[in-house]
Amino acid sequence: MTKKRTGSQESGDRLFIGIDLGTSRSAISASNGRRAWIDSYVGWPKDFVARKMLGAAVLFGDEALKNRLSVELNRPLEHGVIKEGTARDQEAIRELIRHMMEMVGADNDQPIHAVVGVPAESFKTNKLAIKRCVGDTAEAIMVVSEPFAVAYGRDLLNNALVIDIGAGTVDFCIMHGTVPGEDDQRTLLTAGDYLDRQLYDALVERYPTASLTLNMARQFKERLSFVGEPESVVHVDIPVNGKSMRHNITEEMRRACESILPGIVETATEMIARFDPEYQDTVRRNVIVAGGGSQIRGLAPYLEREIGAFGPCKVTCVDDPLFAGSDGCLALARDMPAEFWDRADEA
Ligand SMILES: Nc1ncnc2c1ncn2[C@@H]1O[C@H](COP(=O)(O)OP(=O)(O)OP(=O)(O)O)[C@@H](O)[C@H]1O
Ligand SMILES: [Mg+2]
Repeated sequence: MTKKRTGSQESGDRLFIGIDLGTSRSAISASNGRRAWIDSYVGWPKDFVARKMLGAAVLFGDEALKNRLSVELNRPLEHGVIKEGTARDQEAIRELIRHMMEMVGADNDQPIHAVVGVPAESFKTNKLAIKRCVGDTAEAIMVVSEPFAVAYGRDLLNNALVIDIGAGTVDFCIMHGTVPGEDDQRTLLTAGDYLDRQLYDALVERYPTASLTLNMARQFKERLSFVGEPESVVHVDIPVNGKSMRHNITEEMRRACESILPGIVETATEMIARFDPEYQDTVRRNVIVAGGGSQIRGLAPYLEREIGAFGPCKVTCVDDPLFAGSDGCLALARDMPAEFWDRADEA
């Protein structure tokens, strides 16, 4: 992770920032060449003892998680947008963004132009709420959909379908040479968090005496996820009555990972079917998968086979899922003429 630094290499100029606000992880890319990411957790010390022990007024990411007993822990983004409700969530977003800006050295007087990526079908109120949260730190702000940012960052401006598999949502966006409108974007709520729950439930059912947490299930997934035919047997260690024991979780892992795919295939094929018929083959040959879920082994061939039933298909997973969104937001921030910020914001 990038270290905090004060001062800027671009003082006098505007600093462009791209932020991917995620349910589980948030990433930032800056025009001073620095990038950073953080688990999307914010923690406030519960009382003065915790405050003294922790030595900080707010903790972030892993630090907040590790000290969860001493802090009021907040995961402010649910399904990629600010949760209904509390001022605390908004405060957490504000702190998270301020902290990420510090991580890339954007915490001085330099004017900041920030593009923030949020899920495809986020409502105007969420955009406004996010704008309010970023407003403290940035001079100009634009809120765009995450998959649009990924597409823009890779120059996929025409006849492409981007699928972003995150923790809270799977976001889809069809690109056809203009800023995408609402009809070009869809969101599913069965993403990484749902997959974790499926895996956890299946393992608890098969191994009732094993001591397992949802967090352990997610860690197993992040190490061993796959779809299709297994390359080898998948084993993990799980304690039983305090003793670590090997468990075969091959079938459970496969079923949990595959559980989110029918919805993805259905939405992708529906979106392509609604596209101009002359270009449907081109889009089907230009499917890009981003987000943490794009790292599931065997995903591209699986999707190619399933979507390929409708015509020739090529699926590519991005090579840098952590920063594909924030890099795309930064590319947008750099390219956007001043008068366009508001228009793109309506996308
Ligand atoms: N190797 C892997 N295999 C499968 N899933 C993975 C892997 N690595 C990370 N993930 C999952 O990817 C998800 C995080 O991806 P990402 O950072 O794109 O999501 P996010 O942006 O936080 O969420 P959202 O876009 O829904 O707001 C988590 O569910 C995480 O467990
Ligand atoms: Mg995301």
